[in-house]
Order: sequence, then structure tokens, then C-alpha cells
Amino acid sequence: MRAWLLDKQEGLSALRIDNDAPDPVASDGEVVLQLRYAALNPADRYLAEKQYPARPKLPHVLGRDGVGDVVTTHAAVQPTHGNRMLILRGDTGVQSWGTFAEKTAVAAESIVPIPKGWSDQEAAAGSLVYLTAYQAITQWGPLPKGAVLITGASGGVGIATIQLAKALGLPVIALSRDSSKKVALIKQGASHVADPGNPKWPEEVREALGGKPIELCVENIGGENFSRIVDIMGQNGKISVVGRLAGPVPNFNTASLFFRRMRIGGVAVGTYSALESRNAWDHVVRLLANTGARPLIDSVFPFDQLHQAFERLASGPLGKVLIDIQAR
Ligand SMILES: NC(=O)c1ccc[n+]([C@@H]2O[C@H](COP(=O)([O-])OP(=O)(O)OC[C@H]3O[C@@H](n4cnc5c(N)ncnc54)[C@H](OP(=O)(O)O)[C@@H]3O)[C@@H](O)[C@H]2O)c1
Repeated sequence: MRAWLLDKQEGLSALRIDNDAPDPVASDGEVVLQLRYAALNPADRYLAEKQYPARPKLPHVLGRDGVGDVVTTHAAVQPTHGNRMLILRGDTGVQSWGTFAEKTAVAAESIVPIPKGWSDQEAAAGSLVYLTAYQAITQWGPLPKGAVLITGASGGVGIATIQLAKALGLPVIALSRDSSKKVALIKQGASHVADPGNPKWPEEVREALGGKPIELCVENIGGENFSRIVDIMGQNGKISVVGRLAGPVPNFNTASLFFRRMRIGGVAVGTYSALESRNAWDHVVRLLANTGARPLIDSVFPFDQLHQAFERLASGPLGKVLIDIQAR
């Protein structure tokens, strides 16, 4: 099969197309999918750069999200040939070969049918970011009732979080550095969009909320703005730390935490068991069906242009970046 192979964990430049990579074989409990679309995630780059904990056997195929048709099933595995399925976060693209290839072997317990009415592209785009957003929103116990602040709001996790928070009826404040995305973010469900590059963004957000506190922040960015986020949170505020695209947080004053009894907690979508992923996914799909929201696709690149697709991802997309496995 054709596959993008990573020979060394020395960055994305170490990726090369192999036209004759071995076809995957379905082991116990697995099926093989003939893939149609795969979505990119920043963690693919981190893994390629050895900045991610996984150390898969090399060569490795990256790619955690994808949609495809079942072409082989191991004995005693349920999904039947020809079923079009999407992959939920599991080992795919982490420890086992992923979706930047024509085929992938995946645990049958980690695939689900495409939600009703979704296109193949939408199905390929959604699962990892929605499950992450879901964990970020639900990990503190009772669902939040107050305002939610989302950083890096235009990215995959950001858009998914806006949509889920909106479906839960929560006011959403979105932070994006790019003013041209404002209208789109409001359309997705944000009540207000602010620019984290403007040092006065906290005042702007306080005004937009009319004095109401922020109960939860879904934090994708880290870096210098983190202290401002801690400052703006309400009493008992919670920050779900998802990513750190802007790097480490300098000069963090822990006093902010105890004065307002705040909590900061990491999100790790990879810690969901297959059953937890399926349960979370069912809830996500039901929530989205209530509002009619769907995964937002930023761009789709032909299979051979994976490097260009990663450049687009690094440039700050609006939604998800995909590759079309069958297009060259
Ligand atoms: N913990 C987990 O389980 C988990 C799961 C999924 C993802 N993640 C992590 O969460 C983060 C977000 O993932 P994603 O898929 O949403 O990424 P993404 O699709 O690349 O989007 C991130 C958004 O953040 C903004 N951004 C990018 N670089 C930035 C920078 N240096 N400073 C400030 N803003 C920046 C951009 O929006 P604007 O240009 O509009 O500002 C961009 O659209 C990544 O670090 C990813 O690895 C973690």
C-alpha cells in the first residue's frame, strides 16, 4: 500500500511516501479499514519530533483520525465488510500504524459508524477533537452552568469546544489572534471573540460578560497569556489544560489559585478507555444533533501533499485540516 513512513523521530521532514509499504493485517480483535480521509493533529508533529511520550517501533505511520471501509476482519469481530466507519482515539497513529496510509488495522472496539447525515470528511475530522473537548468540559464533575472561555478557539479543539458548550447552552468567550475569523467563530456559537494579543482583552471580556464570572476555561495555548487567564477566572473557576502551542508559562503566581479556590487540571484524551470513548462519543453526537453543528473543515489536501497540510495546520487553521487518501 501507499503510506507516509516516518523513519526517525526527527521531525516532519523525516516523513516519506513509500509506494510499497506492507499492507496491515487484522490481529485479534481488529479490522482493516481502506481509508478515504484522515485528519491532522498537532500531536502528529509532536510525535514526529519526539516531543510526545509515545516511542512507536520505526518506521511508523502517523495519523490518529480517519474514516474508511472495513475490508478485512479478524475472526469473531463484528463490523461487516464494506461498513464505513470512523476511528475513535486509541492506539492508531500512536503505538500502531495510523491513517496517513491507504489502509490501517484498528481495534474493532475503537471504530463507530458515521453519525447520521455527516459527510465522510466531517466523519474523519471530528473524533479526536470532540472527545478532547468533551473531556475538558466534563472532567470536573457536574456540567458547567456559567461562561466558558476557550483559547486557540479557531483550531480543531477550539471549534469542537465552542460547539459542545453552545449545545449545553453555555455562554462562550473565544480567543483568537486572527480578527478575520471572528464572524465564523460567532457563527459556530461564540458570544464574544477577543484577541489575546491585545493586552486589554481581559477588560473587554469582563465587559462583554456584564460582570458574570467565567466558570471554565479550555486552554489550548499556554505561554504568556496563561497568567491573565488565571486572573480573569471567577470564584472556584476551573482551567482544563489541553495544549501548549505557545510554550511554557512564565512567572506563574500560585496565590491566584488559593484566593479564588481555583483548580487547574490536565486533559489527556488518550486516557479514555475504548468504552469511555464510545460513551463520550455517543453523548457528543447527541449534543451536536440538537444544534445541527458539524465538524468544521478548514482544508483538504491530496495524499501526496501531507507536508503542505502540516504547514497549513501550523499556520492557524479555522477548523480541521484533512488529507484525501485517494487523491494524489
Ligand atoms: N491533551 C489532549 O488530550 C489533547 C488533545 C488534542 C489536542 N491537544 C493539544 O491542544 C492544542 C490545540 O490543538 P488543536 O488541534 O486545536 O490545534 P490547531 O487545530 O492547530 O489549532 C490551534 C489554534 O490555536 C491558535 N494558535 C496556534 N499557535 C499559537 C500560538 N503559538 N500562540 C497562540 N495561539 C496559537 C491558532 O488560532 P488563532 O490563529 O485563531 O489564534 C490555531 O488555530 C495542541 O497543543 C494539541 O497538541 C491536546
